[in-house]
Amino acid sequence: MSLSEEAIESAKDDALAAISSANSLDAIKEVKAAHVGDKSPIARANQQLGTLTPEERANFGKIIGQAKNVVMVALESRTRILEVERDARVLIEERVDVSIPARRRPKGGLHPLTILTNEICDLFLGMGYRVAEGPELEAEWLNFDALNMPPDHPARSMQDTFFVEPLDSHLVLRTHTSPVQVRTMLEEKPPIYVICPGRTYRADELDATHTPVFSQVEGLVIDKGITMADLKGTLDHFARSIFGPEVKTRLRSSFFPFTEPSAEVDFYFNGRWIEWGGCGMVNPKVLVACGIDPDIYSGFAFGMGLERTLMVRHGITDMHDIVEGDMRFSQSFGTGVK
Ligand code: DAH
Repeated sequence: MSLSEEAIESAKDDALAAISSANSLDAIKEVKAAHVGDKSPIARANQQLGTLTPEERANFGKIIGQAKNVVMVALESRTRILEVERDARVLIEERVDVSIPARRRPKGGLHPLTILTNEICDLFLGMGYRVAEGPELEAEWLNFDALNMPPDHPARSMQDTFFVEPLDSHLVLRTHTSPVQVRTMLEEKPPIYVICPGRTYRADELDATHTPVFSQVEGLVIDKGITMADLKGTLDHFARSIFGPEVKTRLRSSFFPFTEPSAEVDFYFNGRWIEWGGCGMVNPKVLVACGIDPDIYSGFAFGMGLERTLMVRHGITDMHDIVEGDMRFSQSFGTGVK
């Protein structure tokens, strides 16, 4: 461009026209680069100032400066307008409709077995017991030996117990909650009043009445002067609060290595006797193994299956319903699965 007032005027007019027709912030950026950037006609005119006489330079310098000013002011005001338009558009485009109903997600709820477990724990907590828990992967010694189950005891055979490799780790998936008794007696001094709910494992097929993963609740009391009458009274109270105030219990003599004497406890419900679990007076040998003096202390223990308790109480005829996790099963207990 040869330096002339007209040329500068027309570069300014071109710039102003481009500015007023720029419709977006991106477009205005391009316009700015093209009309006031380093390679723009106005910038190039400025570069030519060096070739002029001092007088001409002052004159053109002023003209170019004014033209550039006008263009810059127009650019700025157009940019402001486009920004305001963009902000208004974003507000509309990104508006959140707070009146749209929220999507409902199920909150989840407790499994009926968990509800029963909590109910039992609450009952015993109310009588001053403590809830004790132990690991599901248990030392073979605690699961069997300490409970006076010698190595040739049938319950230790491969069919019932899930042994854990390597076999010399002597770990098993606990076959009952009774090892929690032992753990408690090893850790605490009498008086001991504990209730121990938990998951247990036996190598059974899942069918209508069996499941390889099941739950038990164990009770243990060790104190001075504890007798079988205390056991019977406790079981009566337990059965009545779980199955109803009319329910009776009976003890049938039985055998467990860790209790002496031992009994099966049944309860009378809906016109028939139903087997509930095992119980007895803690075998003095077990007390000794746990460092408790049997001449000073005695105690009782009991253990029952929770699935069975739930099935009887609610007339559930198929174990699959308890273990398979179909929400309709839980919902039928009103467990708040919404
Ligand atoms: N542990 C026994 C079982 O799983 C049940 C049992 C029987 C627990 C007698 C006890 C008890 O505490 O005294 O077959």
